[in-house]
Amino acid sequence: MEARKVHPTNMAEHVKNTEGKHSIFEEEARKLPIPVPSIFMQKGGEIGPARFRETDIILPLKDPRQLKEVFPQTLARNKNVVLEGFSADSLPPLRGKRVGVLFSGGPAAGGHNVLAGLKAALGKDNVLMGVRKGPKGLIRGDVFEIESSDLQSIVNTGGFDFLGTDRTKIQTPEQFLKVKETVLKNRLDGLVIAGGDDSNTNAAFLAEYFETQRVPCSVVGIPKTIDGDLALDRFLPISFGYDTATKVFSELAGNLAQDAASAVKYWHFVKLMGRTASKITLEVALQTKPAVALISEEIAEKNMSLDDIVDYIVGVITARRLRGINHGVILIPEGLVEFIPEMRTLIHELNTVLAEYEKDVKDLPTLKNKQEFIYPLLSPPSAQLMASLPEEIEEMLILDRDEHGNVKVSQIETEKLLIDKIRYRVSELKRHPDRFFGKGDRKIEAGPEEIEKIRSLSLSTQSHFLGYEGRCAKPTRFDAAFTFLLGLTAGSLVLAEKTGYMAAVTDFDKGGRILALPLVALVTREMRKGKEEFVIEKSLVKTASPSFKLFAENRDRWAREDLFSSPGPIQHWGPTSSQIPVSVALDQGYEDYRHFDLGKEQKITL
Ligand code: FBP
Repeated sequence: MEARKVHPTNMAEHVKNTEGKHSIFEEEARKLPIPVPSIFMQKGGEIGPARFRETDIILPLKDPRQLKEVFPQTLARNKNVVLEGFSADSLPPLRGKRVGVLFSGGPAAGGHNVLAGLKAALGKDNVLMGVRKGPKGLIRGDVFEIESSDLQSIVNTGGFDFLGTDRTKIQTPEQFLKVKETVLKNRLDGLVIAGGDDSNTNAAFLAEYFETQRVPCSVVGIPKTIDGDLALDRFLPISFGYDTATKVFSELAGNLAQDAASAVKYWHFVKLMGRTASKITLEVALQTKPAVALISEEIAEKNMSLDDIVDYIVGVITARRLRGINHGVILIPEGLVEFIPEMRTLIHELNTVLAEYEKDVKDLPTLKNKQEFIYPLLSPPSAQLMASLPEEIEEMLILDRDEHGNVKVSQIETEKLLIDKIRYRVSELKRHPDRFFGKGDRKIEAGPEEIEKIRSLSLSTQSHFLGYEGRCAKPTRFDAAFTFLLGLTAGSLVLAEKTGYMAAVTDFDKGGRILALPLVALVTREMRKGKEEFVIEKSLVKTASPSFKLFAENRDRWAREDLFSSPGPIQHWGPTSSQIPVSVALDQGYEDYRHFDLGKEQKITL
């Protein structure tokens, strides 16, 4: 057969042509249409802003007495009423408005479509200003005008790279003053903050501050976080980025399960991002049916210790061994350590100690010096637990806090901690069968042959951490539509001079319902760095929810018989391209998760 002719020059040219985000895929992705609900469709067929009216839903305050003192202006203005969007066809066009937008916190897929949605809502007669590098850029006044041409090249692409992001908490009077200067200097009529719970807390405080200072600038939040923990029952089913991230992780976990069953020798311990809630882990479990998926919220509810968790996993490993299966995937939520009661107490004690002595501890030169300083200030059980942890984990707990005072759980190698403990337990089980086999609490019931089978177990493990891989993928068809809608909603809210609200979309199965939620209704009191603070409450996995129940009803079978499934790569067109997260569909009471409906597809020209 004649060899195919290759043209190296053309090939080199083609490779060069795909530089700077011009791969064939990226070119096609930018052209993909986006579904848009009818309330944003103008008579002429263009996309434009919606109007808002009050609903009869008043959200309850989590701490009425205190919140009325902290947010008096916002509460007087919004009265905690939920707003609903409706078609603005009869509204005369608004001109000359200037709106700033920033990303805040970790990246999540769809941020660029938020910008596109905002631009579409503002139209050609108003100006969209981008704030570089998140809240830090807002404080510094790093603002520029976003042109339509900028958006044409980033629409439907992943990442936050067009604006950048950071995690600065706007807290001090000086910071608030600087933000006010940025707003006044740039004559901003509105400020849109796309962020998670901490970032939307910033938004709530800024809205109150501007009201107090009589700065005529609306502040609107947009729910962003792959963690899925910025949600409010039927009013806010999910934040943006969750769908894309869980689909990326599900593909990878499914691939690992397939590899485990093929190579038949490895146990894969997979830590999944989600700094507090286990929502990502739950969704990935429903998608892939692993041997084990730990759900932190259940562990806290059942008061399970680290030893209990180790026992549970060893129980699954031995049960599978008896059925001739010595491989599998174990999903571990990133935030697990903070839900294990004894670890939670330790972290709480450390927070209190560090709140008082942070500088002293930082100034001490070695880890040993820091340990000597801290140990006597902890309760004896916490000091003992701390001493039993690997040094890297100890160091993380003491030193590595984010700007909000949170332990950086993404850096704690929980998957390796569990592997160490499980390997040790398996070796003990081999050395002291009398302690572990027999009848009674914590014992494994097994006959002599079975005991021998378990004792001959050789455990090969691999550890993985899936997190950053899922934050900046090209948004799924759902996230692309959801974020465009959130941008349209936020832009419409600013044009309607609404402040202190979060844009929200519900009814993903019925064309989409557009809401604005009063931010103060989401705020609660929490301990941060040993001090009480007002912050937006995280939405955790509820063990009474339909999604958790479905998982709990099936997990023992998934543990015993290798029933994994591989959901495959994200499809941007094709049979699975309209899926939404199974857990979201279940908890919202939708009939199906395989198709969302957010209106008719529109070609996006800005
Ligand atoms: P946000 O809540 O800001 O969206 O961030 C979520 C997250 O992805 C967590 O899952 C993770 O713990 C954290 O970001 C890691 O952030 P960093 O980029 O600072 O390492």
